[in-house]
Amino acid sequence: MTAQPSPAAVNRLRPRRSCLAVPGSNPRFLEKAQGLAADQVFLDLEDACAPLVKESARHNIVDALNSGDWGGKTRVVRVNDWTTHWTYRDVVTVVEGAGPNLDCIMLPKVQDATQVKALDLLLTQIEKTMGFEVGRIGIEAQIENAKGLVNVDEIAAASPRLETIIFGPADFMASINMKTLVVGQQPPGYPADAYHYILMRILMAARANDLQAIDGPFLQIRNPDGYREVAGRAAALGFDGKWVLHPDQVAIANEVFSPSQEDYDHAELILDAYEWCTSEAGGAKGSAMLGDEMIDEASRKMALVIAGKGRAAGL
Ligand code: GLV
Ligand code: MG
Repeated sequence: MTAQPSPAAVNRLRPRRSCLAVPGSNPRFLEKAQGLAADQVFLDLEDACAPLVKESARHNIVDALNSGDWGGKTRVVRVNDWTTHWTYRDVVTVVEGAGPNLDCIMLPKVQDATQVKALDLLLTQIEKTMGFEVGRIGIEAQIENAKGLVNVDEIAAASPRLETIIFGPADFMASINMKTLVVGQQPPGYPADAYHYILMRILMAARANDLQAIDGPFLQIRNPDGYREVAGRAAALGFDGKWVLHPDQVAIANEVFSPSQEDYDHAELILDAYEWCTSEAGGAKGSAMLGDEMIDEASRKMALVIAGKGRAAGL
């Protein structure tokens, strides 16, 4: 008998090209975010909310999830990290209040697997108590310090609820004492890509566990070219999406993390040609020529990734 995939395994395929940050303390932004073309919204109880308004923000978020029209977007709430005293009440208030209208909890500053497991256990208790489907709410884990990165492999394997591993550059840069104040851009004085190692570790841990990999914020919201460049690097490596902090960044992220029309068309051609060559009518061959290019099973897999993203983007 084939094992049933967990609900999170199915949900890991949700589009997340653009993940819009929305402060939970601001009802106007909670309203406005609903009409934007982001694939995902995350309603924030952490760093976008001052300590004095965290409690009222929990209630704003519950109201916005229950009464808003989110138009098919993935709905995520970022709670505070486990080193604070807010985490459990964030989770209990939001999940009890709006569980059926919520897709994932984002856990910031994850340092080891136990922090993900603790959230998983808490979610299970709330789901059972409330009569919600157990295991439906996913987890997104943010890697934001050296300890989290060193433990990223165990973190990415910590729970079947996990859907994404997210790079949090601002906290990360602070945690390793990087000598710059401009989040997301290369630190002056270093001649190569200072983020390559970090992004690749996150990407490998995510892919080894069939999770999505998401790049974090770019804080210069009036610098669309800079955003495009940084997003383009993450997309080229294989990342699935990036945070957006401003409506102007949404369309750029959606474009950068979708294949170009040309690549998408080419991928579909490879899939058709390979299907034909492996069929009986096509000679049941393991490889074939498509123009000047030899294609084989590995080409099919690469084409499937691009075609999958293109189909999801409606190309
Ligand atoms: C996001 O949370 C970051 O710290 O970059
Ligand atoms: Mg952070």
